[in-house]
Amino acid sequence: MAIYMLQSSLNDTVNLKTNQFFDDVINGLRSSPKRLNSKYFYDANGDKLFQELMNCEEYYPTNCELEIFSTKTAEICKAIMADGSPFDLIELGAGDAMKSSYLLKHLLEQKADFTYMPIDISGNVISYLNVTLPVTLPGIKIHGLNGEYFNMLKQAAVASDRRKVILFLGSNIGNMPVPDAINFCKELRNHLNEDDMVLIGIDLKKNPATILAAYNDKGGITKRFNLNLLERINRELGGDFDLTKFEHYPTYDPESGACKSYLVSQEDQIVTIGNKHIHFQKDEYIFMEISQKFTVLQTGQMAEKAGFKPVELFFDSKNWFLDAIWAAE
Ligand code: AVJ
Repeated sequence: MAIYMLQSSLNDTVNLKTNQFFDDVINGLRSSPKRLNSKYFYDANGDKLFQELMNCEEYYPTNCELEIFSTKTAEICKAIMADGSPFDLIELGAGDAMKSSYLLKHLLEQKADFTYMPIDISGNVISYLNVTLPVTLPGIKIHGLNGEYFNMLKQAAVASDRRKVILFLGSNIGNMPVPDAINFCKELRNHLNEDDMVLIGIDLKKNPATILAAYNDKGGITKRFNLNLLERINRELGGDFDLTKFEHYPTYDPESGACKSYLVSQEDQIVTIGNKHIHFQKDEYIFMEISQKFTVLQTGQMAEKAGFKPVELFFDSKNWFLDAIWAAE
């Protein structure tokens, strides 16, 4: 009986999530211009493709940020430890915590008094970290939170009133158009107290050809990464996208700093998803993803608009990527 109830409530959760995905997909493809939300890129296949991307020649952001974390570990940790008071180190979208592990290891060596609280929408990620980190980093206090960022931040605030340091790495802030990114930072600020900190990873404007190449790799991984969402829709929502009838079209506009990707319909066609029919004209596009690039000045303005003060900036040796420490004002 108990097992049956668990199973059926599990199914309800799955259905609820599927419906949200379905609704978002149908609404997106019924809007003009058509769009899909890049947060849906990351199913098991999407995770694998992103891993591949991080290892390819052209995709530089991960390597830049890894360079910062591995060469400036002590300075970053010193800033985070501040006056030495105990703190919660909360990571938004922790993934495999590869980058943050550099900090965690150093903080443990320094005998810093902290609890690591990774937040991730994926339950798998959280249980993986809860099990593996105490083995790879003996002595670590870890409290994983599985859910939406801001819901989990609320929980973290209830769980302890220690000062908070938020990690938001990997230029994930770039996946929002600038006004949304500012609103996101404002909401983040609302969940924090004065002098709490954010360590945020931001990809910077640079030679436009370098940026475009990172989102148009010769091996075609980015293309597969985009097409994978159509495949996911086919599999999970009963769609019949013909992947050969959509072409990947990446763009970078050096003026706005917006790097955007599209899938362009190669012919007039009707795609069916469940009981819904979506018409595509020849050359009609789906807007798939934005990866916004910033100047250092713009990142400071964003901090200020959201109620933060930049206190320390860390760059890689090429000055392609920025990890900024902001303090809540
Ligand atoms: C994981 C969101 C930081 O925007 O650079 C990589 C995702 N998209 N190649 C990015 C991505 C295409 C990546 N982020």
